[in-house]
Amino acid sequence: MRKKIVAGNWKMNKTPSETKAFAEQFKAILPKTKWCDIVVCVPTVDLSAAVRAFKDSRIAVGAENVYFEKSGAYTGEIAANMLLDAGCKYVILGHSERRAMGETNADVNAKVLAALDNGLIPIMCVGESLEQREAGITEEWITMQIKTGLASIGEDKIRKMIIAYEPIWAIGTGKTATPEQAEEVCEHIRAVIRKLYGAKVARAISILYGGSMNEKNAYDLLAQPDIDGGLIGGASLVPEKFVKIIEAANQPTI
Ligand code: PGA
Repeated sequence: MRKKIVAGNWKMNKTPSETKAFAEQFKAILPKTKWCDIVVCVPTVDLSAAVRAFKDSRIAVGAENVYFEKSGAYTGEIAANMLLDAGCKYVILGHSERRAMGETNADVNAKVLAALDNGLIPIMCVGESLEQREAGITEEWITMQIKTGLASIGEDKIRKMIIAYEPIWAIGTGKTATPEQAEEVCEHIRAVIRKLYGAKVARAISILYGGSMNEKNAYDLLAQPDIDGGLIGGASLVPEKFVKIIEAANQPTI
């Protein structure tokens, strides 16, 4: 049985003081969540405020990026063991906004390996552009991103990962993929994992959908058999909205 996961991606929003204020409001209205794990991924500078505020709660904290080297002369970068020591449990990798800044599939792969080696749970993002969807190459593109992102990751390690399908055309645009469109690609991702790692691993891995998921469309998206949760940008910044999505995810799975 796969647990649902709802992960917020704050992107470049909120200061440490705003993080503290968010946490207080959020914890006050969060219902009991038996069937759903909750993660809040925040800017690096907000990590310590988030870890402190969510200590003794069911909410885990994640980062939005990591560097693949262990240490050294990489001004401005953050290593995986630093994130772990700061109290991070998850890290978003290969987000399309970072890929647009020049991150390659090889970088994503190196970062996934660095995260796993240090005990962080990577949330590896894949997704097609509108041009690629219209050209009918969505599945080929996603297959390539998955295969290269997971290069040299063995069966023992893949089990500790999460994959997020985020169509670029749906991110921050208010243009959500329909439940059918999102399910089609998430099902495809599971089929690729099945080919690479076998049926057992494919059944166990959590695949999230991200891209304008909100309190209104979450129920239908999360009801799809291959969608195991959401990666939420805009709506994760507002406690009331984020809680509604968590409620939608907190349903017993078959
Ligand atoms: P959005 O962002 O929910 O604001 O579309 C999702 C994401 O980029 O992870």
